[in-house]
Amino acid sequence: METIKSIPNLKNLSTLLLENSTDQNKVESVIQEIYLYFHELTEMSNYEHEIKHLAAVPTAKGMALSLKHAADCFLDYKRTVKFLQGMVEAIKAKQEKYPDEKIQIFYAGCGPFAPFVTLVAPLFEPEEIQFSLLDINEGSIGLAKKLISTLKLSSYVQDFHLADAIIFKIPSPDSFHIVFSETLDAVLNRESYVPILWNMPRKQTQQVNAPT
Ligand SMILES: C[S@@+](CC[C@H](N)C(=O)[O-])C[C@H]1O[C@@H](n2cnc3c(N)ncnc32)[C@H](O)[C@@H]1O
Repeated sequence: METIKSIPNLKNLSTLLLENSTDQNKVESVIQEIYLYFHELTEMSNYEHEIKHLAAVPTAKGMALSLKHAADCFLDYKRTVKFLQGMVEAIKAKQEKYPDEKIQIFYAGCGPFAPFVTLVAPLFEPEEIQFSLLDINEGSIGLAKKLISTLKLSSYVQDFHLADAIIFKIPSPDSFHIVFSETLDAVLNRESYVPILWNMPRKQTQQVNAPT
């Protein structure tokens, strides 16, 4: 595998993905380039052949993808681009709706590459968005923390939680504008997307009209 010489310009690479989202060849080459960076920055080759990093982790209602397989979700090209577009659009929509607020995002099931932080954060300022990350897999959350720090994106992250998203009680749940999870291994059969989302908070907003 090639050796990388410097930290990638993720803002440029993410922008390339967003601007060329229908050009499959371009998408594949940019995603492969980023995967290679992340693979090396996390020293993934030290983990990916160990049985414990290839085995799924039991959760309260199913199984969580292993560290290695969670990392490889990144190479699901169409998925990665669609979720990137969705996250960026969701943030912009919330910024429009709450122009004076820092947009708080809870990301359940970040995996070792936390792609919807590492690809998204460089497109904004840390004063605009903040992430809280959670994963049940200790190895994955550890590598996500390491990667985010190496990429100098720690100022975008409020908290890292090692927990089962199905039962975890989120602190200050009303503070979150966006809750996000891509825990869809084997469609809805194995990972517990529905129970996870069911357990996630949603910002309660209410329009209050001034009395006339
Ligand atoms: C399909 S992978 C996606 C990884 C990454 N978010 C991505 O999009 O590339 C799902 C991740 O969610 C985690 N996960 C699955 N079920 C979980 C649960 N109940 N609680 C916490 N994390 C969970 C897995 O450990 C894995 O890292």
